[in-house]
Amino acid sequence: MAKLRKIFVCTECGSNSPKWIGNCPTCGAWNTYIEEIAGNKTAQESKSATWRVSSPKDFEIKPIPLTEISPGRLVRTDTRDNELNRVLGGGIVPGSLVLIGGEPGIGKSTLSLQMATQIGIKVLYVSGEESEDQIKLRADRLSGNTPECFIYTETNTSKMLNLAASLQPGLMIIDSIQTISSPNIESMPGTISQVRECTAELQRFAKETNIPVIIIGHITKEGSIAGPKILEHIVDTVLQFEGDRQHSYRILRTLKNRFGSTDEIGIYEMQAGGLRQVCNPSELLLTQRDDHLSGSTVSATMEGMRPVLIETQALVATAIFGTPQRSSTGFDLRRLHMLLAVLEKRSGIFFGQKDVFLNIAGGLKIVDTAVDLGLVAALVSSLHDIYVSQKVCFAGEIGLSGEIRAVSRIEQRIQEADRLGFEEMFVSKYNMKGIDPDRYVLKLRPVGKINEMVEVLFS
Ligand code: TYD
Ligand code: MG
Repeated sequence: MAKLRKIFVCTECGSNSPKWIGNCPTCGAWNTYIEEIAGNKTAQESKSATWRVSSPKDFEIKPIPLTEISPGRLVRTDTRDNELNRVLGGGIVPGSLVLIGGEPGIGKSTLSLQMATQIGIKVLYVSGEESEDQIKLRADRLSGNTPECFIYTETNTSKMLNLAASLQPGLMIIDSIQTISSPNIESMPGTISQVRECTAELQRFAKETNIPVIIIGHITKEGSIAGPKILEHIVDTVLQFEGDRQHSYRILRTLKNRFGSTDEIGIYEMQAGGLRQVCNPSELLLTQRDDHLSGSTVSATMEGMRPVLIETQALVATAIFGTPQRSSTGFDLRRLHMLLAVLEKRSGIFFGQKDVFLNIAGGLKIVDTAVDLGLVAALVSSLHDIYVSQKVCFAGEIGLSGEIRAVSRIEQRIQEADRLGFEEMFVSKYNMKGIDPDRYVLKLRPVGKINEMVEVLFS
């Protein structure tokens, strides 16, 4: 029996250390090290597991030339859920491992059970969180009743994998990775080593049997999927289910996809009878914004590699005290000062004796300079008290001479705005090179100076 060895693992990046450290030297995060039991294998045992040619037979296994691999092996399974199909890149790939992450109560179990009862193939739904009765209650709520969906409440990975191997389902769903545990590891369920080991076992199972596996994972307060980043490296696809629990809309976002694009999002509405696919996504933003309100615009920004449309709000009011206030939430205050100075100097729009408040709706923090154009539109809109149509959005950076500069990934931004149902989009004229405006339903409005935009919107 190997000796149990304690190590400390960073919950952010997965690096480890023999003693506790406050500041991770690898990723720089603070207070993320937690105690773990190192793998049970001794160095000797793991050494013997490394690959080496042991018999002449091994030479008989030959690599396959690319041209001889038949594409038929990759027939995707239609989930009968258009939004889910879209974020998966067209359906579930055989033998793939998909992770659906999200905050507790956001609707991950609902989404998976709804899909399991609709998909029309044999599904094994393994739950470590709820009893059969509870799952049945939920299925009744979703009006999903099919003999093809098998429920198994179990937390031991070897038991569930044995059962799955004999049942041979077309899809296996694990709810959730934090509640299951592998008998090969002594740590508690939900710890980093358990999460990592269980995911690795599920991955081996998926690749060997060609049965796709969907793993549900909870995300931490900080917004990352619990467990180290390594979990995201192992799986083929990472989907994040997001939304405000106060609102009924949910967004399914692709964070990583080995079999498709990461530019896609799926939108749902949580109703009493389950999740409804939202075919016209512009309704998402329309319901959260007030009609005809000045000082509010929508900007197409990028969150990492993904385009996100956000609402930018400005309030310009007459200052009561001598020195006008400038305040900004979710946006760099110094950049706001710069934008106001550019507006005064280059466009003759004065904010001198006005208080200016800026807010990025939804509590987001934006560093992307492409929101400049939308913010300027919001500022002028509030100053003149003239509203900007809800069907218009913006993406452009503002330079010191008042010019509107090109931004990165403009096509993705336009694509997202188009998909979300916007009708017009103001972009930098320097961004138009190589863009075919006819590809989009929305009308592109290339502008080179702030004044050109102000004239179109407010005169
Ligand atoms: P759930 O799928 O249990 O969340 P998760 O698995 O991500 O923790 O979702 C639970 C919430 O969804 C709960 O607050 C109730 C709500 N809900 C509905 O509004 N309608 C429904 O049909 C169902 C099944 C749940
Ligand atoms: Mg759940």
